[in-house]
Amino acid sequence: MKIELSKLSQTGSLLIAFATSSSTQSKSGKTDSTKLTHTTLSKRLKTALESKEVSPAAQTSVSFRDIDFEGFRHVVVVGLGDEKKLDPEAIRQVAVSIHSAAKSLKASDVVVHFDGIPHGKKDAASYVQALTEGLLLSDYTFDELKSKKKDAKEEKSETTFHLATKSSDAAMKKAVTEGVILAETVNFSRRLGDMPANLMTPTILADETVDAAKGTGLKVTVWDKARIKKEKMGGLLGVSMGSSEEPRFIIMEYKGTGTANKAPIVYVGKGLTFDCGGISIKPSAGMEEMKYDMCGGANVIGTMLAIAKLKLKVHVVGLVASTENMPGPAATKPGDVHTARNGKTFEVNNTDAEGRLVLADALSYATELKPTMIVDAATLTGAMVVALGNIHTGFFTRNDGFAKQISKAASISGEETWRLPLVDHHLKDMKGTFADLSNISSGKGAGSATAAAFLEQFVGEGIPWAHFDIAGTGWSVGNRLPYCSRKGASGVMIRTFVELAKQY
Ligand code: BES
Ligand code: ZN
Ligand code: ZN
Repeated sequence: MKIELSKLSQTGSLLIAFATSSSTQSKSGKTDSTKLTHTTLSKRLKTALESKEVSPAAQTSVSFRDIDFEGFRHVVVVGLGDEKKLDPEAIRQVAVSIHSAAKSLKASDVVVHFDGIPHGKKDAASYVQALTEGLLLSDYTFDELKSKKKDAKEEKSETTFHLATKSSDAAMKKAVTEGVILAETVNFSRRLGDMPANLMTPTILADETVDAAKGTGLKVTVWDKARIKKEKMGGLLGVSMGSSEEPRFIIMEYKGTGTANKAPIVYVGKGLTFDCGGISIKPSAGMEEMKYDMCGGANVIGTMLAIAKLKLKVHVVGLVASTENMPGPAATKPGDVHTARNGKTFEVNNTDAEGRLVLADALSYATELKPTMIVDAATLTGAMVVALGNIHTGFFTRNDGFAKQISKAASISGEETWRLPLVDHHLKDMKGTFADLSNISSGKGAGSATAAAFLEQFVGEGIPWAHFDIAGTGWSVGNRLPYCSRKGASGVMIRTFVELAKQY
């Protein structure tokens, strides 16, 4: 699939025009009118409009097949909804209708009348970027493990979307390039997540990271089991002991131009390529979904790749603690005590609360890098799914300024986040009986916050830190976002994490 800017005179086999609704308030009340946004519409389309065949509602489209309008074989009118409610996220979602229209008409050269999307001058670049992202995110499929590939795949990859506009200046071109980089790295991470655990072990995850980083300026170092032991990462090592697969600790570093001596931003990801719970084994229903327990790690890898490809002038480090959590003969047993890299000890009272143990080492290591900030992403707690469902990613930080910065970044990226409380009470519940800490709470409820309190014990004082629990949003269960509607990994928070680096 290709996306490029083109002139308004561009022709192709399919034209995408837009319809919006605008409500006007008059003495007699509120009236809704539909407006078609292509300037030179044929009589057929005008009649369609008058007879209300065309709907302005968002997520709808009306196809006019074989209409032969000004050299276009087909025209599809896509609804944008209320003009006043348009924003980049709305455009990202509208892209799904455009993508599916092109797919169902098997069109290989599609002209999208971009200037027909009502926007002010200052919105043009963010809208064109959102459209680019939406088209590419909609194009993601994971069918490489099926012996018979769908023909659609070949057709899709040949489709060119021309975004027709009279204002294709440098800022617009940059927006398309950025949109392509972001969406492609999100799709890269989605594939890592969707791959089953037997084909995405910690070793494979690390190898894929090394491969993907080639030519991007990203330096990747991978620690194997022996090195992890030598580096005193008792959390990661302890979780890995029940598995016959070796753990990996992946270190990625990117130094943008002129940033070599600057303190880094560190991204940390939970990379459990499979979490069956270990000795505290999970019930079998739905256990297959625990291949997604590495989505935090996959999304940190995606973030790092995007930052390097965008050549942002930032110094960033990405850390992924990767292992399986299995009940093999050498597995950690309930009650066992391990020591994390920063010297703190913890009792493993439930081997299924393993994410916090591998993150303990990664956060300790992140702290040693004297960073300007640390953010981590992890499918950490089932409690997060109960609290927020599949729409919002919950995040925890004690730093109000940092929380504001995060909310701003998320509003630009269009990803939904929600801050949750983290206070001393939560830590009190995590005290150990025989060790410094217990890996499960002694109290009831607030399971995501007590997990965050545990993590905080491994972050150096004064370092702005935020923990993102993506348990509910890391993969889709079918109804979350139109551009991510299939079952599968979402790549959530990559766009927000990149935006955080941009703002820094
Ligand atoms: N990976 C799971 C959390 C999870 C569960 C993510 C469901 C997404 C969907 C994590 O390792 C885990 O099992 N956590 C336990 C912790 C508990 C034992 C304190 C949980 O949430 O049940
Ligand atoms: Zn678990
Ligand atoms: Zn887990």
